[in-house]
Amino acid sequence: MDESDEIFDDPVLDLSGESAGEKELDSSSPFFVSKKAAAVLKHAILKQYVVPFASKVGRYSPGGRVVYVDGYAGPGRYEDGTPGSPSLILNSAARIADFRQLDCFFIERGRKSYRSLSTLVEEARGQGLSAYALRGRVEKHLDEVLDRAQGAPLFAFLDPFGLGLSFDALTKHLFGSRGWATGRLATEVLLNFNANAVRRIGGLLTSPKDTPSKPATLQAMDVACGGPWWRDEYRTSRDPAEAVERIADGFASRVGKAVGAGYWTIEVRNRAHHQIAYHLVHFSRHRDGLWLFGEAASLAQVEWRRACLPPRNEDMLFDAADTFDEEEAERAKRWVNRIRQNIEDLQKQLGVFSIGDRQAEVLAGVLGEAREKHIRAAVKDLYKEGKTGCKGVGDVRELRITPP
Ligand SMILES: C[S@@+](CC[C@H](N)C(=O)[O-])C[C@H]1O[C@@H](n2cnc3c(N)ncnc32)[C@H](O)[C@@H]1O
Repeated sequence: MDESDEIFDDPVLDLSGESAGEKELDSSSPFFVSKKAAAVLKHAILKQYVVPFASKVGRYSPGGRVVYVDGYAGPGRYEDGTPGSPSLILNSAARIADFRQLDCFFIERGRKSYRSLSTLVEEARGQGLSAYALRGRVEKHLDEVLDRAQGAPLFAFLDPFGLGLSFDALTKHLFGSRGWATGRLATEVLLNFNANAVRRIGGLLTSPKDTPSKPATLQAMDVACGGPWWRDEYRTSRDPAEAVERIADGFASRVGKAVGAGYWTIEVRNRAHHQIAYHLVHFSRHRDGLWLFGEAASLAQVEWRRACLPPRNEDMLFDAADTFDEEEAERAKRWVNRIRQNIEDLQKQLGVFSIGDRQAEVLAGVLGEAREKHIRAAVKDLYKEGKTGCKGVGDVRELRITPP
């Protein structure tokens, strides 16, 4: 279950679920055998985020009910038994079962993947969890799930191999069905915006070859992005890497604007030096959601970096794993220094401010990497040096940076 390049011999693999060339990537596919580092990051983010999200927004929901939908669920777990997103979320649901009811809807189109998914879901139901496996395309089941989510907070995870829900389905249908409320009626989406699809489909714009499927493929990308704006972004980018960044950001900001949400875009790679496999884009209408997601993303990156370590080799004198903690400490030191600089710049601009009001500026340059503990360390350093009166104690979001 990874998104490596090889699977993209059909760039419109998941465009609409209807193209004749689509292949079913079922649980017997080599991609469902064991997972790569990119999936480690994706799953670590889910694991780190859904529990705090459900704990927070479910507080005022009747019966502590929170709805989770996984629109492109896959088989649930890898062949080697490693949990896929459904298995991970069911574990999360079990962990919070005493105080939250996470109603989990897993939608999967592939026949074999669905079979394996239903077995997992049956096991979960046997343990008293509220879980449903729905067979078919997410577009077909969305209404029913949105109906079931009325009156409760909703978290949707959309993780296709190629392009996923159309821009309109996401903004008008999914978000649109929910009103603009937050808290008890919060709506959040985490989606996989596929860089391989952008590179392949974007490449058609500059390719002299005219294949019969080219116009439909380009149009499908328009539908996914909410218009043809991405074509200019692609054409005017220096290279495909820049195009991927600009188009992911253009997509996130357009969705954010349409639904009144803030967003995160997290780059996901299989190795630090690899090209981006996809962006994970998170939308939330609440400042707390965006803050919590930043924490989750930062913690997940630690798991990802560990997963990128080469396998241990007993014959080697030095092993990369031995220096992992030292390198993490070095990284943290760099982040704290960068945050200190950001805070000092903000002090010059604003005089007094609260950390929680300036998340993006405080974390500029280390967004998605550093987290609360690094901010606290930076504030404490500044206090020790007599540069602020704020001691760095208490809830980090509430810290008020005052003059010394
Ligand atoms: C990347 S895999 C999902 C991996 C899973 N989310 C995980 O992390 O373990 C994408 C899955 O979506 C399924 N799929 C593709 N198009 C779909 C659609 N329109 N509706 C529902 N499922 C779809 C594919 O069969 C495939 O199993």
